[in-house]
Amino acid sequence: MSLMDRVGGVDLHADETEELLDHFRARLLEEINIDEVADLDMPVKRARLERVLSRLLSFEGPVMSTRNRARLIQRIVDDAVGLGVLEPLIADETVTEIMVNGVHDLFVERSGRIERIPSAFRSEEELMQTIDRIVSSVNRRVDESSPMVDARLAGGERVNVIIPPLALDGPTMTIRRFPTPFRMPDLVARRSLPEEASALLGAMVRARFNILVSGGTGTGKTTFLNALSGLIPDRERIITIEDSAELSLQQGHVVRLEARPANTEGKGQVSIRDLVRNSLRMRPDRIVVGEVRGGETLDMLQAMNTGHEGSLTTVHANSAHDALGRLETLASMSDLDLPVDTLRDQINGAIDIIIQLERDSSGVRRVRQIDQVTSQHREQYATAPILRYEQKDDAGAFRAFPLDRAILDRLSWAGETPPPGYGEARS
Ligand SMILES: Nc1ncnc2c1ncn2[C@@H]1O[C@H](COP(=O)(O)OP(=O)(O)O)[C@@H](O)[C@H]1O
Ligand SMILES: [Mg+2]
Repeated sequence: MSLMDRVGGVDLHADETEELLDHFRARLLEEINIDEVADLDMPVKRARLERVLSRLLSFEGPVMSTRNRARLIQRIVDDAVGLGVLEPLIADETVTEIMVNGVHDLFVERSGRIERIPSAFRSEEELMQTIDRIVSSVNRRVDESSPMVDARLAGGERVNVIIPPLALDGPTMTIRRFPTPFRMPDLVARRSLPEEASALLGAMVRARFNILVSGGTGTGKTTFLNALSGLIPDRERIITIEDSAELSLQQGHVVRLEARPANTEGKGQVSIRDLVRNSLRMRPDRIVVGEVRGGETLDMLQAMNTGHEGSLTTVHANSAHDALGRLETLASMSDLDLPVDTLRDQINGAIDIIIQLERDSSGVRRVRQIDQVTSQHREQYATAPILRYEQKDDAGAFRAFPLDRAILDRLSWAGETPPPGYGEARS
């Protein structure tokens, strides 16, 4: 589906009637061979269409002002070429991000690299028209009174627009496409983790272990959470809770919730925390929280401890220990003023497994370590490795460690057998 299909109309000017538009749209298509112009560069294509239209209007059109005539032409040409310079970029699956920095600078990101696109917009007017079309397609508007707009298009693309005077160098638009996310087998194929480890995680997810994915910004937490969630059996009722929806689960029974920031009057905020609490009354089998960042952590931990085992979330941290400490800090941000002992008890009870992700110096994203939490009750946090990526000289390799008895027992109660390499109980 082209973005054009999702972009609705712009208000017509008084004497640009729909009829007139329809008529000349049709006439234009009769006069030109669309296939022939399809491969032309956008400016050339536009110029060609404008010429043809201009001639048609002179011979067949009603009398109208130069201004309205120009507007009519622009409108029909816009329709014919869609979103102009953006159209081919949006159609290009390898483009993950489109960045419009004012009229002259247009960049895209392809497989992590930013490239400049030489043919940018011709005028600020053209750029604003394109922005208007995108934004109005989701019933938003951007103008001086609301100079920053976030919108999500029906195809899932996230659009952000910020215009002058806030943006100093002209209207600025960022369109982010979410590529089909990696599933666990894709991550294995990219060597982000070994096959056996993915099998082990599958067994753990089915056996309802509570799993925390930890990593820095851009290490692939959301991606991993998504892949992990993909291992949840299809018959279960899954509730996902996110700040801005990124997860895309394939299961048949998924309820997606998205938090809402306060409006311009500072009202109407619905936090992750509100949603976590609400989700408990929605008969979830699993709660998947995109990322814990604040007081909702406590609610999440309580849920994990009280009948919602098998829940999954991510946290921003640099190691398993760091992640546990971070959970403690975040949980203490809730309005309940719980002593540290109690928090530790909650965390030790809730978190079974921590998956630490990394993005190494060459940009490769992988699992650095998988740990099990071995501390209990109010003990100081203790973890034991299950998998570790070890760097030796230039080469790195994953090393598996045998599972603790307690984990083996839990797996076997759930009818799961650990894959080779993990089965031997550590004393
Ligand atoms: N294992 C991986 N291999 C390659 N690219 C990945 C991997 N995991 C994530 N990515 C890519 O890295 C980027 C950031 O991933 P994301 O999951 O959003 O990170 P985070 O949630 O930690 O900020 C995305 O473009 C994603 O497609
Ligand atoms: Mg993320």
